[in-house]
Amino acid sequence: MFRPRRLRKNETVRRMVRETTLRPADFIYPLFVVEGKGVRKEISSMPGCFQESIDEAVKNARDAWSLGVPSVLLFGIPEHKDEVGSAAYDENGIIQRAVRELKNALPELYVITDVCLCEYTSHGHCGVVRDGDVLNDATVELLVKESLSHARAGADMVAPSDMMDGRVGAIRDALDEEGFTGVPVMSYAAKYASAFYGPFREAAESTPQFGDRRSYQMDPPNRREALREVALDIEEGADIVMVKPALAYLDIISDVRAAFDVPVAAYNVSGEYSLIKAAGKLGWVDEERVMMESLVAIKRAGADLILTYFAKDAAKALNR
Ligand code: PBG
Repeated sequence: MFRPRRLRKNETVRRMVRETTLRPADFIYPLFVVEGKGVRKEISSMPGCFQESIDEAVKNARDAWSLGVPSVLLFGIPEHKDEVGSAAYDENGIIQRAVRELKNALPELYVITDVCLCEYTSHGHCGVVRDGDVLNDATVELLVKESLSHARAGADMVAPSDMMDGRVGAIRDALDEEGFTGVPVMSYAAKYASAFYGPFREAAESTPQFGDRRSYQMDPPNRREALREVALDIEEGADIVMVKPALAYLDIISDVRAAFDVPVAAYNVSGEYSLIKAAGKLGWVDEERVMMESLVAIKRAGADLILTYFAKDAAKALNR
């Protein structure tokens, strides 16, 4: 008779038959970069996460690197915002300078930039707004400029998170034309209009001033549509496709993994992080165990890479 408990008897045998394991190299660590020097301001809804000036971000990235986390994802919070997010594609903008300094200090660190306009526009939408709607093609042109400026600054990879149609192809073509054929695109391919982004919008100061993002981000009840979105991004040249959020969308991660053979990333978003932090603080759950169980679930569902604010905490736990 098959007795499943035989292989659960002790930690040694459990370790031997374990199907999924996490490594620090699975994680990409998001950073929020602000102007100034010596700035390290904790984000109230994301304990343990900070808005940091470039010098502090370098220290934080060095910490992550020394724990075995190979990569950071950069979000910039500019001093000045305007209607068309000019600071996003300024060659001397906050991200462009952060990339240069990070690569200078830590040449091996893999620096990924988030490509979007919402942190840079006065209205907080991810593109150019006319008559209350986000214009697609005019926005794509600006995203192309933004991606090029990141690549020129030395970004290892760009990650468009705006959800405009056709942006991956346009960014790929422009990168190739300028000789950046070796810079991959990780597309936020199946990105849902999720309430789990709440704390991020405090962190990135990017809450839309009117309306919401439902005319460009995906409708949460849709599953099949995610495969069409991902197929389109791969056709346009995406090297890595991302599902976002992660925990409430494990079925999508699993579907994407099964249908395509490119690397799949999943974004364990701010709200997912904050819920665990809050319940942990209250003593309602064991924070570390819930964190590790959540991360392994994302990997078990099929993610090769996990973007997570837990990157350092999880790497510490794995290194123990
Ligand atoms: C920018 C962007 C968002 C996130 C990543 N890139 C916010 C949004 O779409 O509103 C969310 C990340 C998180 O919640 O951790 N478009």
